[in-house]
Amino acid sequence: MATIKSELIKNFAEEEAIHHNKISIVGTGSVGVACAISILLKGLSDELVLVDVDEGKLKGETMDLQHGSPFMKMPNIVSSKDYLVTANSNLVIITAGARQKKGETRLDLVQRNVSIFKLMIPNITQYSPHCKLLIVTNPVDILTYVAWKLSGFPKNRVIGSGCNLDSARFRYFIGQRLGIHSESCHGLILGEHGDSSVPVWSGVNIAGVPLKDLNPDIGTDKDPEQWENVHKKK
Ligand SMILES: *[C@@H]1O[C@H](CO)[C@@H](O)[C@H](O)[C@H]1NC(C)=O
Ligand SMILES: *[C@@H]1O[C@H](CO)[C@@H](O)[C@H](O)[C@H]1NC(C)=O
Repeated sequence: MATIKSELIKNFAEEEAIHHNKISIVGTGSVGVACAISILLKGLSDELVLVDVDEGKLKGETMDLQHGSPFMKMPNIVSSKDYLVTANSNLVIITAGARQKKGETRLDLVQRNVSIFKLMIPNITQYSPHCKLLIVTNPVDILTYVAWKLSGFPKNRVIGSGCNLDSARFRYFIGQRLGIHSESCHGLILGEHGDSSVPVWSGVNIAGVPLKDLNPDIGTDKDPEQWENVHKKK
């Protein structure tokens, strides 16, 4: 029987779906979902996959994203708790980790996140042996190292989010202080993501004008304007 679809669309050649850029996100907490929305709105992938152990949450988030498809360039979104759906990903972003329990120390929590990685990484590498891994779960630098060891991947395919967020916040706060869009404020935070990270004041510039030229004591204790507070804020 003729259906609307068969009347409307006639296939003259066999067409097989070819995925050129598949991105998988493991963990659908707020960070995972924010990654998904950014990727979809920028049209960075032609297939987006979500994985989470919490199937209810996973289904809800997936449906929300799918229903936004009229506003997206590449609205091909699938999800499952089975890593099979991630097969042949080009990029796998890991945001999953354990939630802190009452009375649990930070060290216990690190150990639990490491345990989760021991299950996750082999599942990912088994289905996508050529992917790049992007680690976002905290403590991010430690878990990036763990992911590198567990995956056996070359180091150029295991990337941590590092101080990217710190640097973005730094640029935002500089922009706020000067009344300038953060896009024109340049500066880097280096080191381990966390309390020991370091702002590189010598490189901070506004559209190419180094702030150190205008205030040689910037970032030090002697700085009358106390710019160091901008870093502490993060
Ligand atoms: C473990 O991962 C979760 C989820 O990303 C995060 O909320 C938690 O803070 C992490 N643990 C540590 C010790 O950073
Ligand atoms: C990954 O694989 C292991 C063993 O193959 C399995 O025990 C585990 O439950 C899998 N899934 C997750 C979410 O880690």
